[in-house]
Order: sequence, then C-alpha cells, then structure tokens
Amino acid sequence: MPLLEVEDLGVEFRRRGLEPFRAVDGVSFDVDPGQTVGLVGESGCGKSVTSLAIMRLLMPRGNRVTGRVSFDGTDLLRLPIRDMRDRRGRDLAMIFQDPLSSLNPVISIGLQVTEVLQRHRGMKQSAARAEARDLLDQVGIPDPDRRLKEYPHQLSGGMRQRALIAMAVACRPRLLIADEPTTALDVTIQAQILQLLGTLVRENGTALIMITHDLGVVAGLCDEVNVLYGGRIVERANRHELFATPQHPYTHGLLASIPRLDAPAGERLHPVQGSVSDNIPWTSACAFAPRCGNEVDRCRSASPELTAAPLGHGHQLRCFNPVLPDGAGVGATGGSAPVDSAGEAL
Ligand SMILES: Nc1ncnc2c1ncn2[C@@H]1O[C@H](COP(=O)(O)OP(=O)(O)OP(=O)(O)O)[C@@H](O)[C@H]1O
Ligand code: SF4
Ligand SMILES: [Mg+2]
Repeated sequence: MPLLEVEDLGVEFRRRGLEPFRAVDGVSFDVDPGQTVGLVGESGCGKSVTSLAIMRLLMPRGNRVTGRVSFDGTDLLRLPIRDMRDRRGRDLAMIFQDPLSSLNPVISIGLQVTEVLQRHRGMKQSAARAEARDLLDQVGIPDPDRRLKEYPHQLSGGMRQRALIAMAVACRPRLLIADEPTTALDVTIQAQILQLLGTLVRENGTALIMITHDLGVVAGLCDEVNVLYGGRIVERANRHELFATPQHPYTHGLLASIPRLDAPAGERLHPVQGSVSDNIPWTSACAFAPRCGNEVDRCRSASPELTAAPLGHGHQLRCFNPVLPDGAGVGATGGSAPVDSAGEAL
C-alpha cells in the first residue's frame, strides 16, 4: 500500500491579462514507505511546483490546484489548513531549494534545530542540544558547537542547505521531499548527504521524493524515476530500466548530455537541443516536438498519453515514436522507424 498517492495533480497559475499557465498537468505517481522516487527534468519543468502543491505550500491566490494527494488515506488537498500544518510538522517534511528563505533569520541555528527535536520527538532541551550537535556533524558542518550559536546569515549557502537537511532529518518524517538538496554542495559533502538520506529511508522507512536535475544523484539513490517535461511525466521506470533502456527522446537527450570521463579529450558535449521556451501546448500536440529529433507527423496533431512502454516491465512512456535500441537512429537526434506507444510499427 503506497504511503503517498498523487493522482492527476494539476497546477495552473493565473495572472490578470495573461493566459492561465499550466505548470503541472496530470501528474500521477505513488511512493511506498522506504522507497525513493525521483522527479527529474530540466529547469522549469514543474518539479518544485509539484512538491509545493503536495505540501500545500503554494501561495493561496493566483493558482488553482486540482487532483488528489492521498497521504496514508487522507487527501491532503482537502484537509483543513490547520490540520495540514500539523501534518507538515509531524509526518511530512521538505528540504527547500532555497535555504535562505526557509530558515528563520532571527533565530540561531541551534535553537531552530533543537526546537524541531523538542516539538516532534519530545526531547528534553539538553538531549535535543546534543542531538542537534550530532546532526550538524552528520551533515558535514565543521565546528558544530560554534555553528549552533550562529544565525543563518553567518553561514555560507552550502552550510545553510546542510542545516536545513539536519532539520528535516531531525523530524524523522514519514515522507520527505528533498528539492535539489545537494545542488549547492561540493561533491564530498554531496556524497555524505546522499548517504544520510539513504540511511533515513532504510532505517526509518521514510518515503523520499528526490527532486533533481542530476542523473548521477538519481543513479545513486532512486528506486523509481519520473522524468518530467513541460509539467507532465514523459517517462517512468525503475532506475535500472531507465538507465538501461531509456525510450523517450527527451530522456535520451538528458542521458547524452552527461559529460563522460572516458570521452576523448576535446569531445564536444551534447546538450538537449533548444530550450523549454520552444515548448508547444500539450493540448493537441507533444510539447517536446520542436526539440525532438524523432518527431513524426502525428506529434503535432495529437497529444501522446502515458502508456506502457514497448520495452520493460512497468515502464511507461508518453511518446508516439520512442527511441528503441535495435532500430536505426538511437538517440534524440536520430530517426528511428516510427512505432506507436505499444511498439507496433505505424
Ligand atoms: N508562483 C508562480 N507564478 C507563475 N508561474 C510560476 C510560479 N512558480 C513557478 N512558476 C512557473 O512554473 C514552471 C515550473 O516551475 P518550477 O519551479 O516547478 O520548475 P523546476 O522544475 O523546479 O525548475 P528548477 O530546476 O529551475 O528549480 C516554470 O515555468 C515557472 O516559471
Ligand atoms: S517522437 Fe513525437 S511524441 Fe515522442 S517525444 Fe518526439 S515529438 Fe514527442
Ligand atoms: Mg525547482
């Protein structure tokens, strides 16, 4: 039984004089206790808006959230806001992408972490203080005794990020959403943080949603991966399948854009061509069509659904002409034989 079931989640932003903008469109996925589910995709694809909608943290005005977010059987989107605040402290935690705006600037780091421990784990002040020190140590903050007395503005961006991670871990939440938690950190600290999150998942059965644009993080941590494009999931698979048999042209583009250590010196990188500003609306087309090397006629006249992929088990795909390993033109810029989403030749 999944702990979290996100069903047909939609977020539309409305601004006076402008067309409504659908930042998240029909997103559905589940997370089991002790499972790590990744949301990946390039900037602007809707990763943070999805997580803020799940946590009910979008500004109350100027947007419309639709769908269902069931946590342990309760629809969070329909919960009175007071009960939701309660849940956020007790069961759900989030590591925000922007650490400065998430820490209280006038309260010391030590007080912020110990408050979480006292409130959510019922610890006495002295035990909470010792635990807070240990947590700062675990997230790689040097000289934790000194840092506990400092205020957020006295810490570097990377240290603030780590303090936030310490606070999220301190809650021992049942569901943790980590929005790009390691982007601002150097690789050794990044590894330490990923290990800490992995331990939280393994030992406490925490369900983790890992938001990242870094496929290396996905490879190291996620059980299942959802690739987002233009606010919709375009490919979903377990980690092994996603890396072994990616089939969406966009996923291929993302994988091809990773720099390789074994590449010959001077070899050029292969970014996904174009940018999100080239998107066309999903309503009657594939939003990725202007950037896709596999485009066929149908891609601009019909919107692909998320259906079973031609290859793999439980692997899903939103594409009329997937990239298949045995065909010609493997890769986003190639041109393989057209097949429909069930793998039949057109
Ligand atoms: N409050 C808002 N009002 C209007 N549009 C918004 C708002 N917040 C986000 N958006 C838009 O929604 C889209 C998705 O934004 P989101 O922050 O979820 O992207 P992201 O995938 O998290 O990107 P990044 O990797 O840069 O963090 C973007 O086009 C963004 O400009
Ligand atoms: S082949 Fe068509 S449906 Fe598939 S990603 Fe390319 S444009 Fe979209
Ligand atoms: Mg974001």
